[in-house]
Amino acid sequence: MKWFQKSSATIRIEPHPKPLKIGGKETVLDVALSNKLDIGHTCEGMGSCTTCRVFVLDGDAGPRTEIEQERADERGFADNERLACQIKPIEGLKLKLP
Ligand code: FES
Repeated sequence: MKWFQKSSATIRIEPHPKPLKIGGKETVLDVALSNKLDIGHTCEGMGSCTTCRVFVLDGDAGPRTEIEQERADERGFADNERLACQIKPIEGLKLKLP
């Protein structure tokens, strides 16, 4: 599937029971926090702490940012292990909190 980013999207973040509509420039972390999901964010979205880790269950989360790639390499992340503060909502993306 070709990666692309739209200005708005509907995604799922388990264990939230409903699809979440997202628009604008929000990250997945922003969306998770605004929907009261229990997700870490010690560095406040700077991409350095990795407490906002999520797993991609379905869909394409797009390429890693440079800082996310550095953290992934350091910590041996699986391909579907991503940082919520570094990814943008993409239509149909389905994620799960650890
Ligand atoms: S909030 Fe720290 S890496 Fe995402």
